[in-house]
Parts: sequence; C-alpha cells; structure tokens
Amino acid sequence: MKPIKAVLIEGDGIGPEVTRAVVAIFNAACVPMEWTPHKAGLAALSAGSEVLPAKTIDAIKEYGLALKGPCTTPIGKGFTSVNVGLRKALNLYAAVRPVRSLQGVKTRFENVDIIIIRENTEGLYSGIENEVTPGVVTCMKVATEAACLRIALWAFRFATHRKRKKITVFHKANIMKVTDGLFINCAERIHKKDYPNIDYNTLIIDAGCMRLVQDPSQFDMLLLENLYGDVVSDLCAGLVGGLGVVPGANIGDHGAVFEAVHGSAPDIAGKGIANPLALLMSGVMMLNYVADERDDVSIKKLADKIKNAYNQALADNCKTRDLGGEMGTDAFAKAVIERLGG
Ligand code: NAI
Repeated sequence: MKPIKAVLIEGDGIGPEVTRAVVAIFNAACVPMEWTPHKAGLAALSAGSEVLPAKTIDAIKEYGLALKGPCTTPIGKGFTSVNVGLRKALNLYAAVRPVRSLQGVKTRFENVDIIIIRENTEGLYSGIENEVTPGVVTCMKVATEAACLRIALWAFRFATHRKRKKITVFHKANIMKVTDGLFINCAERIHKKDYPNIDYNTLIIDAGCMRLVQDPSQFDMLLLENLYGDVVSDLCAGLVGGLGVVPGANIGDHGAVFEAVHGSAPDIAGKGIANPLALLMSGVMMLNYVADERDDVSIKKLADKIKNAYNQALADNCKTRDLGGEMGTDAFAKAVIERLGG
C-alpha cells in the first residue's frame, strides 16, 4: 500500500498524550503512515518560533493532510487562535463533526446520530474587534454570499454522498436579519436548485438547542455558521458522553486537518488520564478521507479495523475517567491495540 504522508501536530496540554496514544494504535494496526511532525501553539512558542510557523502551514499544504492535537488560546488577551489561523490560512472552510451514541457509553439518549457541518472561515470568528471609544467595543460578524453558498453546497453534497436525509440550519435571522438572513437564504437556494430530494428546514438556534436536548433523534445533519457550530458541537458532545468522544475534520478544496472537537484541557494535562478516543476517531476519519481520495478499499479496511477495535474496547467496559471508567490514556490505547485482531 502506498504510504500515507501527513503532518502530525501534537498541540498543547493533553495534546502530546493523546497524540502519542493514537500514533501507537496506528502503528499496531500497521497503517502505512509517514508522519512529519510540526509544531503549532504554545509548543511552537517554547521552541522559539512563531505561534503558527510558516513551515507548519507549508508542510500541510505540501501533504494536504494533517492530524492535529488541540492548541491553547489565551483568554481575553495574547495571541489569536492558532486553530482559527490554520483554518483560514489553508482555507479549510468545512468543519465536519459526527456525533454518535457509542455502545457501552451510557447517556440520556441511545440513538444519537448527527453530523454537524460548521462554516469555518467567517462569522463572529473573523476576529474583527474594535474599541470605538473607552468602554464601547464592537465585534463584526462577517458573512459573504460566496462563503455561505460554498458551505451550503458542500453540506448538501456531503449529505448526498453519505445518504443522509435531512439538513437543518440553526440561525438567529430574526435578530441578525442581514448576516444570518444571508446564511439561510444561500442554504435555501442550494436546496431548491440542486438538492430538493434532501429534506431541509430551519430553526431559530435557541429553540433548536432546546429540541436537541429534548430529543436529538429528530436531527440528521445540522448546518451552522461558525460560532453556532462551535457552541452546538460541544452541546451535542454532551449528548453522547462528552468531549472525549467527538472527532472532527476541517476540510478545504486542497487539503484537510483532522482534530478532536475538544481543547487542550489544561485541568487534566500531564496526568495521563485524557481520553484519546476523540483524536483516534479523527484519525479514522482521516483514513476514510484518504480512502475516498484514492478510491482505495484497503485503507477503508484499516479504518474499519481501528473503529471495530475501539468499539469493542468500549463494549468491554474499557473506559477512561470522563466516561465513568478508571483507565488512563495509555491503558485505554493498549485495550484498543489488544482488540485490533478481531
Ligand atoms: P476543553 O475542551 O479543553 O476542556 C473542557 C472540559 O472537557 C475540561 O474539563 C476537560 O478536562 C474536558 N476534556 C476535554 N477533552 C478531554 C479528553 N480528551 N478527555 C477527557 N476530558 C476532556 O475546553 P476549554 O477548557 O474551554 O479550553 C482549553 C483550551 O483549549 C483553551 O485554550 C481553548 O482555546 C483551547 N481549545 C482548542 C481547540 C482546538 O485546538 N481545536 C478547541 C477548543 C478549545
């Protein structure tokens, strides 16, 4: 099998711990990875380079593929988010976050299966903030027709490819009539023109969140602008066991960066107790992405092998503490490795 070349960014906080676990599982599964390690975030700063080094971006551009641990962003001061910077620099406009109930992970609901598509490049995340006069500050929400049409088209295409039935847009166009109004208008145009066979509806985001926690099974795919996608992703993570079990992909036309939805979890960093599953699942998404790109069934088989192994581990009650178990990061990785054969 042709090697899979990808950049590996360990990230900050629990990043190095969970990344190490994922690499060990990939090695044990004989995935033909050729990792090129690069730094970003606090790790890059400590090594004396910029927070988002140009060579990290260039390497991802070269390989078109990266697996990334979480990077810390200081609150209320300091450097701007490395994660946002990377998505913008590489134009990774579509974030994909599958949220699914897992066997062995007991939560309030049993049949959650939602795919969140988040617009990744604009909205309030544009970081355009301004102090008009002392005590008066503003933040600009940017929505462009091009980006709104692009993400809507991407979402409907994805839905078709994955045989999903329905897309729901959460919005606040009753208040942000122009920006969120444009977002839903674009989604509606794409739906009507090219994808009338896929069900489509819109919900004001506050009511949407209430419905999500009452009965998530009524949702199939959610299409959201940047900030709503960020917030609703964590809400949905809470429906299936928490941030330790929700993977993600940031996809553009020329490459993709795979990372968990969770952050660097400074509260548990260095303790060896972080759940590596979200990053492992992101790695499995990466393999499926490469399998699709290359039209290579053998890579898909490797992805399935790892997926079956972690599902079996959970079903056998091998769990980290966030899921109510007692295992540490390495012990859970070992439990997955032991189940790769069958
Ligand atoms: P967080 O996701 O790091 O942590 C929230 C809570 O979930 C914490 O209690 C943490 O211990 C727990 N948690 C998260 N991942 C876990 C895992 N794998 N296993 C077990 N428990 C886990 O969110 P928080 O605290 O808001 O952010 C911390 C830092 O991470 C901030 O600097 C933030 O900017 C950054 N961040 C980075 C992201 C990225 O790199 N894509 C995404 C989200 C936040």
